[in-house]
Amino acid sequence: MNKERKVIDIQQIKAQEQICARIFEQVTDGGRRPLAMVDTYGCQQNEADSEKIRGYLAEMGYGFTQDEFQADVIVINTCAVREHAEMRVLGNVGALNHSKKNKPQQIIAVCGCMVQQQHMAEKIKKSYPVVDLVFGPHELWRFPELLEQVMTRHKRVFATENSNGAVAEGIPLRRDGKVKAWLSIMYGCNNFCSYCIVPYVRGRERSRLPEDIVREARELVEQGYKDITLLGQNVNSYGKDLDCGVDFSDLIRMINDIPGDFLIRFMTSHPKDATEKLFQTMAACEKCAHHIHLPVQSGSDRILKVMNRNYDSAKYIRQAELARSYMPDLVITTDIIVGFPGETEEDFEDTIRLCEKVRFDAMFTFIYSKRVGTPAASMPDPYTREDKQKHFDRLMEVSNRISAEKHKEYEGKSFRVLVDGETGKDEYNLSSRTNGGRLVHLKGDPALVGQFVKVKITASNTWALYGEIENG
Ligand code: SAH
Ligand code: SF4
Ligand code: F3S
Repeated sequence: MNKERKVIDIQQIKAQEQICARIFEQVTDGGRRPLAMVDTYGCQQNEADSEKIRGYLAEMGYGFTQDEFQADVIVINTCAVREHAEMRVLGNVGALNHSKKNKPQQIIAVCGCMVQQQHMAEKIKKSYPVVDLVFGPHELWRFPELLEQVMTRHKRVFATENSNGAVAEGIPLRRDGKVKAWLSIMYGCNNFCSYCIVPYVRGRERSRLPEDIVREARELVEQGYKDITLLGQNVNSYGKDLDCGVDFSDLIRMINDIPGDFLIRFMTSHPKDATEKLFQTMAACEKCAHHIHLPVQSGSDRILKVMNRNYDSAKYIRQAELARSYMPDLVITTDIIVGFPGETEEDFEDTIRLCEKVRFDAMFTFIYSKRVGTPAASMPDPYTREDKQKHFDRLMEVSNRISAEKHKEYEGKSFRVLVDGETGKDEYNLSSRTNGGRLVHLKGDPALVGQFVKVKITASNTWALYGEIENG
């Protein structure tokens, strides 16, 4: 096993749980039920982290609220991937002045990727005195200890040291839903795409042990979860740091072997590491969803090179074709960045061409956002925001049209879907997902939430399908 792989000793997690018990005594004194609010920005990885923060808070005796005026503790779990995400966080943190004025004992914590950047931690220190506690993703496992410091020392605590990160098992979890669950299989990223902040704030790739992942998956199935999403920045490199002979495809098979009726999903796959073995495994494992989120980022080979993505458009297209040859019903979704520094009209046309060729079921498109400390931040970027917006709008049109065309093909056909929630609307009161992850609105008994049902698709648009439950 890789000697660099740092593991937090389980005794250290136990010590954190003892601190939770101490805090419990203090905050529930007199039979009071204190309240916490956890607000999450960013990706599923952050959602999964917030479930750990809630797990700890629940052990401390906190109930949960969405009302900042009611909360005794507020935790804002932040994202740094684009400037827009950071602006929203800062705006919302600033607004907490009001709730704290109302409730001076309120403790406000800001954690996650944004504050792992030293300039952001500094900014909060200087300009947001309302914040009592700041901690980065690497310190999450010791959140109880940090919170206790704030409570007992009555001074601000900052824990954002730079680190490659560790793996911590045994942190209590409080999951959001009852049907779908996140399951982190690895943390961090080694790829250093030239535009991306994630490797700087999340540390190096480190995989959880297969036995820990399979145990957690088994528990989820036993608890009735029907849709398990394996999470990592690049799940295709799972296990490379472990040297234990289990790669990502093997892991899918191990989870597929767990008895029960459930779906295995995963994200995100990096095209440079997606293999034929993965596609074969997805096709062979009956519980593995036929969906792959395979971010292409650009269709221009020149731009892909400067992005440091380590594949070209031809390789990407070959992979999509190979994957579809194993799974003709495969849903392929992607991420695209528009307006990367120096992206020309011609580069952009290459992206459009690739999209028309691959025909993604859905695309997530972003305008490039400069991230301090990344190589792309110092590349010449002569094009204006207006130029980029024009490209963005055009790509959106292409994306919407293809999605609508793809959705149209579902009409009149029957599919097995997992009912995952209620919409609160009259006409279509239930939401569900196809095996490939497409959203289907339905009308039916709310008791069906958490069950697989057969539906006939009756209508569709760019964003969703509409269906009727079939009997029998
Ligand atoms: N690990 C995943 C992506 C994580 S970030 C992968 O490599 O596929 C999610 C998406 O945000 C990326 O796919 C990319 O499209 C977008 N993104 C990342 N950094 C960005 C930046 N600086 N500006 C705009 N979009 C960015
Ligand atoms: Fe960012 Fe690239 Fe890592 Fe994805 S693979 S998190 S885009 S550096
Ligand atoms: Fe954002 Fe961090 Fe995820 S930067 S996208 S929350 S890994």
